[in-house]
Amino acid sequence: MNNTFNHLISIAPMVDKTDRHFRYFARLLTKKTLLYTEMITAQAIINGDKKKLLDFNPFENPIALQIAGSNPEELYKAVKIAEEWNYDEINLNAGCPSDKVSGNMMGASLMAYPELIAEMISSMKSATKKPVTVKHRIGISSSKVISSFMPYGSFNDFNHLSDFMSIINKAAPDRNILHARIAILEGLSPKENREIPPLDYAMVYTIKKEFPNSIIEINGGIKTLDDIHHHLTHVDSVMIGREAYSNPAFIARFDSFYDSKPTGQLTRRAIIEGFIPYIKDLEIKGENTHLALSHILGLFQNQSGSTMWKRLISTPSNGTKSSLLSDALASLPQDVLDKEL
Ligand SMILES: Cc1cc2nc3c(=O)[nH]c(=O)nc-3n(C[C@H](O)[C@H](O)[C@H](O)COP(=O)(O)O)c2cc1C
Repeated sequence: MNNTFNHLISIAPMVDKTDRHFRYFARLLTKKTLLYTEMITAQAIINGDKKKLLDFNPFENPIALQIAGSNPEELYKAVKIAEEWNYDEINLNAGCPSDKVSGNMMGASLMAYPELIAEMISSMKSATKKPVTVKHRIGISSSKVISSFMPYGSFNDFNHLSDFMSIINKAAPDRNILHARIAILEGLSPKENREIPPLDYAMVYTIKKEFPNSIIEINGGIKTLDDIHHHLTHVDSVMIGREAYSNPAFIARFDSFYDSKPTGQLTRRAIIEGFIPYIKDLEIKGENTHLALSHILGLFQNQSGSTMWKRLISTPSNGTKSSLLSDALASLPQDVLDKEL
């Protein structure tokens, strides 16, 4: 295996959420967790503004770039271009059910063509020495996507998933990330398809048993430290999306899975003080701070001071947001600010 670090937990790729601002913020809360970019298409990397799409702050490391595509040559080119940015891992998206993505034969619809996924992984691996991983579902259902592998427009059983894994594993991906619910390609929005149909963790655990040499990461609905503990007794690693985004205090506990010694006092005050220079820097560069601040709205989730915090972040002000944040440290509930996360 080509994994360069001892990996247990990642924060999932999420379009409009896991941008460079969120990742900087998340890195204040965890040193070890692998952070993912938003999904970027291979074509955008090849034809678009590469700096805008690929630049990140070295503070964000370790970081994985997620690419969507369906053409092995384009994926090769995109990965070659991204080499200059030195991401720690490159990931192929084979799990997104969005029409925009799956309708273009990217994302989850690729699961009907495991040979093509294998070809893409091989192609990506030939463009980099970094780990190349793949994120997919445990099955798909579609009335439109038909292939020799999926002649009835769906697969939703263990044998089919096992065949799928055997085929894509010929390309030896460095990790398989399985979102533990099938993708439904028509009739549900991507948002609905993150709640429906139900998760099937047992299917992922059984895959790990059947493919003991594959590194298997589980994703979907993981919300508590107990959940993480439990999954890690069955699979190699876990990926957490929405709960990490909406409740950042959860992220602060992730490093405890790596070593038993405390990683130092992590408090909301320390996190805010760490983020103020970042916001100040955006202000100096004339960048809009609104987007960056939108990612930290959940810092006081379920705590007193939450309403005040959200109002402070969201309301336009005459002064700079960085000084507003500094001033807020005096008015927010001091016990919540100084409580260890
Ligand atoms: C707003 C949003 C955007 C997402 N964008 C992506 C994406 O770009 N690539 C991807 O593979 N999955 C994407 N996902 C799916 C997540 O990576 C993850 O698989 C899903 O949310 C299930 O994990 P969770 O229950 O921990 O949130 C997105 C999810 C959300 C909520």
